[in-house]
Amino acid sequence: MVQALTPAQPSAQLGGPTLELRGITKRFGAATILEGLSVEIPLTGITFIVGASGSGKSVLCRLAVGLLKPDAGEVFLFGQRVDTLPERKLQPLRARAPYLVQGPALLDWLTLKANVALADPTAKHDGRAEAALERVGLADFVDRKPPEVGPGIRKRAAIARALVLKPEVLLLDEPTTGLDREAAGQVNDTLALVRDQGLGVALVSHDYDALRKLADRVVQVKDHRIGYCGPAKGFA
Ligand SMILES: Nc1ncnc2c1ncn2[C@@H]1O[C@H](COP(=O)(O)OP(=O)(O)OP(=O)(O)O)[C@@H](O)[C@H]1O
Ligand SMILES: [Mg+2]
Repeated sequence: MVQALTPAQPSAQLGGPTLELRGITKRFGAATILEGLSVEIPLTGITFIVGASGSGKSVLCRLAVGLLKPDAGEVFLFGQRVDTLPERKLQPLRARAPYLVQGPALLDWLTLKANVALADPTAKHDGRAEAALERVGLADFVDRKPPEVGPGIRKRAAIARALVLKPEVLLLDEPTTGLDREAAGQVNDTLALVRDQGLGVALVSHDYDALRKLADRVVQVKDHRIGYCGPAKGFA
């Protein structure tokens, strides 16, 4: 059977994972958050998403994985149209690009291993939960519980939980906000580690020191649109 022609696919698709937003407008009631926003973001390496508080960074992330629908425009992740996708087809897409929201993500009464296995219960028995914790340098912490470890380790365990899904890209919303310097450093090192393991990492962040050290690319949300999207070196 001849495949039906699909609408033009994002051109960067061949070169690796991408997020493309075309003509996105998003409103909440009378408030227009994003208006006519278009951008094509390669998701290789580490991408920092920056912008003023309330500018729409979290909204952009939620649009990317279909947790919010735009009022106008189209969203493509990995070249696949997201905003019109039914919920059951969004699940596999979200496994390829898990979205880690801000704030606590673990259950205090479960070990880190059991917390990581919440992503996929079979991971508890086939070694994948341990392997994911090992990937973020937490092999010695599998049997500890969240209250027994520091906030940096808790966030790294949350990252390990996303790794169980064998993602291509991690989307993180302010992974270091509220952490002390040491914990934030641990999390940033972990992001560099998973980047070096071949994952794309896109994170919303206000941490400009980390941006200077880690970012390959910067996307700035400004005045309801994209103020900048390009190499970190070119971002003033
Ligand atoms: N579900 C919602 N209902 C109504 N308004 C919302 C909703 N989600 C976000 N907003 C509003 O949209 C605007 C953008 O929100 P968003 O959370 O994306 O900002 P942000 O750039 O992530 O800010 P911050 O840096 O403070 O996290 C804010 O004014 C927020 O109040
Ligand atoms: Mg936010």
